[in-house]
Amino acid sequence: MKKNLAVVGYGGMGGWHAEHARHSDVVNLVGVYDIKPERNELARSRGIHAYNTFEELLADPNVEIITIATPNDSHCPIAVAALEAGKHVICEKPVTVSSALLEKMIDAAKRNNRIFTVHQNRRWDHEILAVKELKEKNDLGYIFNVESRVHGSRGIPGDWRGKKEHGGGMLLDWGVHLIDQAIFAFPDDPIVSIYARLDHITNQEVDDGCRVIMKFESGLQYYVEVGTSNFISLPRFYVQGVNGTAVIQDWGRPIKIVTCNQWFEENVTPIKAAQGITKTMAPRDDKTITTYERPLPQADVHDFYRNVCKAIDGIEPQLVTHDQIRRVMKVMEAAFESDRTGEAVRTYI
Ligand SMILES: NC(=O)c1ccc[n+]([C@@H]2O[C@H](COP(=O)([O-])OP(=O)(O)OC[C@H]3O[C@@H](n4cnc5c(N)ncnc54)[C@H](O)[C@@H]3O)[C@@H](O)[C@H]2O)c1
Repeated sequence: MKKNLAVVGYGGMGGWHAEHARHSDVVNLVGVYDIKPERNELARSRGIHAYNTFEELLADPNVEIITIATPNDSHCPIAVAALEAGKHVICEKPVTVSSALLEKMIDAAKRNNRIFTVHQNRRWDHEILAVKELKEKNDLGYIFNVESRVHGSRGIPGDWRGKKEHGGGMLLDWGVHLIDQAIFAFPDDPIVSIYARLDHITNQEVDDGCRVIMKFESGLQYYVEVGTSNFISLPRFYVQGVNGTAVIQDWGRPIKIVTCNQWFEENVTPIKAAQGITKTMAPRDDKTITTYERPLPQADVHDFYRNVCKAIDGIEPQLVTHDQIRRVMKVMEAAFESDRTGEAVRTYI
């Protein structure tokens, strides 16, 4: 039996959740609520029931799950009220704007024995699944460096995303996805230091881009970069292992893997490089490497809601766990601190 879902916040992402529910095999959209009457009117014009108030939605015994898709600063009070009303809660990312508020949300979930999780939909991105597969198949041997970048050229989108009071800025917006992906792909490796620089190219109030270096206990360095002033984009992923290198040039592109099958090369011929010559940077003899491409793994983002429903029924543990949600929040807090102090922050996250 499908579970009844209501969506709070019928903007860009709330619209996505509502549309997604129409094609879902596990949830059924019973209605939406937005603080702006015109958004409720829009929902009604699309044949979707819209509640007049949040209280009316909470009081509807039909509603089992509430998905929160409002600006980041409002997630905590909405989630706590929904959990206290006995609803299960899916919160959009970033879960909230501080660890202190996150603990209030987790407490409310535990007190009311409800499922509380975060829509980390980008764990189903084909590109991060390809990086995870690379690690699991051991194509490159020990992976010592991952670079994960997303680049745009239009600054910060929307209105509230440019405001600190609403939890704006790109670290909380896109950084959260890339950090969650790092923890998803390398789950058992504690993060022992974080160094971050935030950009303020088009906005002084909040960051319009970020660069975060996470050092894992194993020695892995995982670099996350979000840019919104990039008129030329760098590859989505660049991964180095001791036996090779892999690259994913762009969304949806296959992963290209080059592995080394013979470390030593006889008679490397120097190449001319700019105003000098170099052997060190000369391309390898093709005989010493193997080059191949692999299609990206397939995934179905509906699996997120399928998992939430199974977790509600006690059949499966929830995939996006409280522990992971806490870790991501702590990494973002350490990144803000590192940017403020200009120093790396020692952590054990
Ligand atoms: N997971 C993803 O891929 C993804 C993508 C985009 C946005 N998001 C997240 O979704 C959330 C919403 O982002 P968006 O792009 O849809 O923003 P948006 O501005 O398009 O929509 C937000 C909506 O919430 C409404 N709202 C504001 N306060 C409210 C309240 N107290 N109660 C009810 N409605 C309220 C606004 O009127 C607006 O219609 C953010 O947390 C954002 O980070 C996630």
